[in-house]
Amino acid sequence: MENKKKSNFSGSLGFVLAAAGSAVGVGNIWRFPYLAAKDGGGLFLVIYLILVLTFGFTLLTTDVAIGRRTKQNALHAFGTIRPRWKFLGYLTFLVPALIMTYYSVIGGWITKYLVAYLTFGGDAAAQDGYFTDFITSRISPIVFMLVFLAATAFVVYRGVEKGIEKFSRFIMPGLFVLIIGIAVFSLTLRFQDQDTVRTGLQGLKVYLLPDFKGLTVKRLLEILLDAMSQLFFSLSVSMGIMITYGSYVKKDVNLSKSLGQIEFFDTLVAFLAGMMIIPAVYVFFGTEGMASGPSLMFVSLPRVFEAMGPAGSLIGLIFFVMVLFAALTSCVSVMETLVANCMELFHTGRKKMSLIIGVIFAVAAVIVCLGYNIFYFELPLPNGQTAQILDLMDYISNSFLMPFISLLTCILIGWVVKPSWICEEMESSGHPFGRKKLYAFMIRYVAPVIMAVLFLQSTGILNLLRSFISR
Ligand code: PHE
Repeated sequence: MENKKKSNFSGSLGFVLAAAGSAVGVGNIWRFPYLAAKDGGGLFLVIYLILVLTFGFTLLTTDVAIGRRTKQNALHAFGTIRPRWKFLGYLTFLVPALIMTYYSVIGGWITKYLVAYLTFGGDAAAQDGYFTDFITSRISPIVFMLVFLAATAFVVYRGVEKGIEKFSRFIMPGLFVLIIGIAVFSLTLRFQDQDTVRTGLQGLKVYLLPDFKGLTVKRLLEILLDAMSQLFFSLSVSMGIMITYGSYVKKDVNLSKSLGQIEFFDTLVAFLAGMMIIPAVYVFFGTEGMASGPSLMFVSLPRVFEAMGPAGSLIGLIFFVMVLFAALTSCVSVMETLVANCMELFHTGRKKMSLIIGVIFAVAAVIVCLGYNIFYFELPLPNGQTAQILDLMDYISNSFLMPFISLLTCILIGWVVKPSWICEEMESSGHPFGRKKLYAFMIRYVAPVIMAVLFLQSTGILNLLRSFISR
């Protein structure tokens, strides 16, 4: 029982910054802007905002309140709520375990680019084939991954208050300042050749104005699903992370207010990331320049920085510092969840567990790195993409497990234990839970349906059904 000393955040600000640190990650920076550009600019923004306030709020509230009420990690929390639902804890634990295998690999890529810009190699990074050459090489991705993983493990090793909270207090405001700086700079950009002029402000219009061109019901549904899966990944819900962080929140903290702040911060950073990336890409490469996923960050943006001229090297450097901050705080939350769950499970101390988990996932991440050379394969996924090891892990955790876990959590909370169980916890500090009715309605009726559709869509079952019906 010597491990019963429970870790805690010092207060509500520490919690908000750490949770926002988890939520703000590469998803905000490389996925949100890409989706916004693809899905009709302002139209996507409005849909996303509505979803954050309803659906995102519901899932985040559920996770954090489960954590604070049970004071346990996912692995034990669900079993405490209802012994028959213990399996859900195990299922939830799988998500950070899968994510951890590849998040540090991506963190390593970011570190590599940061080092490239630091050593004036930004222009080299803009050349064709740079990214592919790097990730397919044998040693270098492993070395950078290890550096990133060691930094993550160090923060977790230091503990909740001295490590995670202190680190987030310093990094999150820094990230915020950097992103505003680049976003404002993006708006001042201008490109001109013989017959075209494109400016940052025109790019801003592309981002903000709703584009209804060619909008059909089917297209609207697609946008809706894109926004939903983005939101869900972006808030780090349904992976046990917010349950763990919730368990560190003291009982007198006004949860309702803190959760509002986390939603706000995560959405604001995503919005600013769009403001920084879309106009810049638009100015130099037009509307066709927006690539998806990692290639947006590791291929297109270095080209944009190169096209900016001398200022580009500095902007590139600041940009990768910022992304590194975002990725580190997210990876810390994933690793913390693993360490905290295992500490509970094996009754070991934090320091020892951080080292063990660090080593295990270093090995796993090496295998993921080798997925681009020795273990290279091309696996077609049900959602139409071709996967290497990294994409496969990402697919199983985010497209398959997360909607499924969310669906089960909604059923458990909405129908088995009833929403009042969560509402009681939200009000236990003596503060009102303003969106109580909305919460109860969402968790019982709306969220389970949405999660089921999302699950059917990302597993490819929806398409299968569709082609079956139209046959
Ligand atoms: N929420 C993070 C983002 O938006 C992603 C993340 C995924 C963080 C998994 C932690 C765990 O990028």
